[in-house]
Amino acid sequence: MQILDGLAVAAHIKEQIKTEVATVKNKGGKTPHLAAILVGNNPASEAYVGNKVRTCSELGFGSTLLRFGTEMTEIELLHEVKKLNENKDIDGILVQLPLPKHISETAIINAIHPNKDVDGFHPISQGKMLLGQDTFLPATPYGIMLMLAHYNIDITGKHCVVIGRSNIVGSPMSVLMAQNTNPGNATVTLTHSRTKDLKAMTLQADIIVAAIGNPKFLTADMVKDGVIIIDVGINRIEDATRKSGYRLVGDVDFENVAPKCSFITPVPKGVGPMTICGLMKNTLKASQIAR
Ligand code: GUN
Repeated sequence: MQILDGLAVAAHIKEQIKTEVATVKNKGGKTPHLAAILVGNNPASEAYVGNKVRTCSELGFGSTLLRFGTEMTEIELLHEVKKLNENKDIDGILVQLPLPKHISETAIINAIHPNKDVDGFHPISQGKMLLGQDTFLPATPYGIMLMLAHYNIDITGKHCVVIGRSNIVGSPMSVLMAQNTNPGNATVTLTHSRTKDLKAMTLQADIIVAAIGNPKFLTADMVKDGVIIIDVGINRIEDATRKSGYRLVGDVDFENVAPKCSFITPVPKGVGPMTICGLMKNTLKASQIAR
């Protein structure tokens, strides 16, 4: 069993990005600039956005963090997005999800200019991805593909079972793994909350991508020997022994599943750091679009 070390792979990719940005800057080129919007004070969202902004400065990117209270209206948020769309200094726009219930995530995502859609959530980005055209890929699926490429894991012809059909992870993941690319060419089954007999599916899987948001959901009896596991879950569970009062666990019962795997991503230090890499690569790409 080999642990897929997201932290180490991310460090490697971040070094490459850092070098590329330094070269661009030395030639008088543009410094990539990411604008992040955080509405409300969801602790997990605060941590994710903090991480994204910190990584920008680590890589030599510029960043702007705009914070607003939960009372912000949809019209006000749309106005902020419009200002960022029109601001020539800003290359990438990220609105951290989830948003408060009174704001339509669809309306906000649709308002982001596709050339600045570094999250890859806009219908144009998702449509292009589906058609295999060059575009911004959603950060988490992009990061997972980068990790598979880094470890030279060949998924051609393998049966990949994706658990969860979110627009952010499950759906795009199923598309990317099935595409005629490298890595790619897997045979994909996309499963979700209405899937009958999920265990019958996962027991057939050569690769499982767990993106459900349910701590330790995937158990050892649900997987076959030699399986490759990609655990996308980042769940906070109470832990009185920690200073923070919680610890992070994935969607996979790591302790019992890992011994059966050929490869497995841990939580933390697995998919999480790769998501940030995907976002940073998208922001660099956005900064290179002529405007
Ligand atoms: N919430 C959970 N994952 C993501 C992500 O990748 N981007 C944004 N904007 N919000 C998220």
